[in-house]
Amino acid sequence: MTVSIESLLKETRVFPPDEEFSTHAHIRSMEQYQALYDKSIQDPEAFWTEMAQALHWFAPPRDILVEDPPHARWFVGGTTNLAYNCLDRHLPTLRRNKAAILWEGEPGETRILTYHQLHREVCRFANVLRKLGVRAGDRVAIYMGMVPEIAVAMLACARIGAVHTVIFGGFAAEAVRDRINDAKASLVVTCDGAFRRGQVIPLKPVVDAALGQCPTVRHTVVFRRTGDRINMEPGRDHYWHEVIEAVTASAPPLPVEAEHPLFILYTSGTTGKPKGVVHTTGGYMVSTYLTTKYVFDLRETDTYFCTADVGWITGHSYVVYGPLSNGATVVMYEGAPNFPDAGRLWQLCERHGVTIFYTAPTAIRAFMRWGEQWPMKADLSSLRLLGTVGEPINPEAWMWYQRVIGNARCPVVDTWWQTETGAIMISPLPGATPTKPGSATLPFFGIEAEVVRKDGTRCEDNEGGFLVIKRPWPSMLRTIFGDDERFKKQYFADIPGVYFTGDGARRDEDGYFWLMGRVDDVLNVSGHRLGTAEIESALVSHRTVAEAAVVGRPDELKGQSLVAFVTLRPGNPATPAAKHELAEHVAAEIGRFARPDVIRFTDVLPKTRSGKIMRRLLKEIAGGSETKGDVTTLEDLSVLAALRASQEEE
Ligand code: WT7
Repeated sequence: MTVSIESLLKETRVFPPDEEFSTHAHIRSMEQYQALYDKSIQDPEAFWTEMAQALHWFAPPRDILVEDPPHARWFVGGTTNLAYNCLDRHLPTLRRNKAAILWEGEPGETRILTYHQLHREVCRFANVLRKLGVRAGDRVAIYMGMVPEIAVAMLACARIGAVHTVIFGGFAAEAVRDRINDAKASLVVTCDGAFRRGQVIPLKPVVDAALGQCPTVRHTVVFRRTGDRINMEPGRDHYWHEVIEAVTASAPPLPVEAEHPLFILYTSGTTGKPKGVVHTTGGYMVSTYLTTKYVFDLRETDTYFCTADVGWITGHSYVVYGPLSNGATVVMYEGAPNFPDAGRLWQLCERHGVTIFYTAPTAIRAFMRWGEQWPMKADLSSLRLLGTVGEPINPEAWMWYQRVIGNARCPVVDTWWQTETGAIMISPLPGATPTKPGSATLPFFGIEAEVVRKDGTRCEDNEGGFLVIKRPWPSMLRTIFGDDERFKKQYFADIPGVYFTGDGARRDEDGYFWLMGRVDDVLNVSGHRLGTAEIESALVSHRTVAEAAVVGRPDELKGQSLVAFVTLRPGNPATPAAKHELAEHVAAEIGRFARPDVIRFTDVLPKTRSGKIMRRLLKEIAGGSETKGDVTTLEDLSVLAALRASQEEE
């Protein structure tokens, strides 16, 4: 961790909430926000008891919060079922025949699943899982493209108390294998392939390659999407459309304890091994329900489109569980945002009458680059609210989003949160909070956020420091799967007594939070969270590599891009072909999205006397700037000159 963080951003524009919008909003004023926030902090028992009542419990919670620091349990004694809350709960109401999922495939076809239909599919798939031996607590890996069946598979797991672990469809066989093995999954749900940018991305062949080394997996279920010929292992592999025919559509939901695990989601940390973030049922349910309702100011007639892939936390919380538990209509899109052209998402918005649009800054910067003519061609008048998540949004991108996509009349909510937090933590409430471009503004109900120094003392206004959360919240991660020590060390050891987010931030004189990016060795490339250690270990697993250090450098489009400094073993030539081979190797080990943008060969890496690689220097060199800071700890000063000479020949 760096010691101090310099904050350079100065932004003075303020956008008060639109009066017309506020009149109809759930939270209509700062007074209302403040009153509810104060209640959530001063009397959390009363606040959360009331909030939890919006959802169905088979047995009501006995204790709202039971602390055993750093562990916390929420809604203890309550039993519920999240699939029941996302589906069954709506069936006796007018939502029964409302669209739950409006899906568009990349080639252009549309499917609509009403709540009744989605419920039916989920029940049938729950029976398939049960028939294949899946029991409550068992882990099910889901490696699929963006088809409605990915939501069906997740909800079916939730229905029977099985724990899903969704693996993003861009991961390569080794990464899939490691996640399946860490979770000890007994079943894998996959597709033959997925459509992306007019091509077929193979998925089942990747699973086949992984399963060679996955002893816990007994069955796979394969949803046929592309119709490509694939290998089907008799006895192990089953086609979705075949097994679904052999079951009934009646599947009673299993009431589970509030703390029953709902899913594991792997995310990058500071070591090479991904962390299996564990979320449980009750708290996650209440937080995703509540944040969806208030941050997106959800109304019954909304058509809500979050562009995230279900393989990441945003897709879990804000494509599937949050919107469906609210009975919303969710737009789901399978493919690339620029296929067949850069107007695709805007056509989608027009076609389905999207009212709420939620995407990432990296996507917004791509839209900017593609040009205003694309959104201008579509009728975006149905939009009423815009959201962003995933990385700090630069004010310029915020302003463009607000002006061009929102036609200067839609509020923009910049939502800060993490895989670990499960739900939105810091965000404007659109009918109440005046927004400042580039600031995620204020904490959500029940969230006590602060910016502190390394010793835990509170920073002054506008002094850069570390963002921490000072008390447990319902959707917080419960542990790292199979490694509770790492959970304690990762989040609760650096700064005493609080949850450390890994992000730098400052808080301005109005109490607004300005996020400044990661302070650890975690990078954010196009909204994908990547651990430098993971990419380094992929590089050194190549036979030609002796040592590698990966750093990020600012990138206009991607937020950060990846620069790898690599020392080759003796006798291996430093050629462009070798660079290409290494980049492909990383793609094969982790996935194409993790390929270094630049590889620089060097004979030595800058190290301290104790042998620690000085990433700060590498960052400065990668960014093309002068090496400013202290170099007295550098073991060998000549290394710097040699490194600078290792020009990028990309
Ligand atoms: C990291 C979490 C949570 C969904 C997507 C990413 C960064 C996220 C913002 C924001 C500034 C943000 C942080 C955070 N981040 N949202 N609105 N402003 N930074 O989930 O992969 O777990 O990454 O993304 O650095 O720690 P994730």
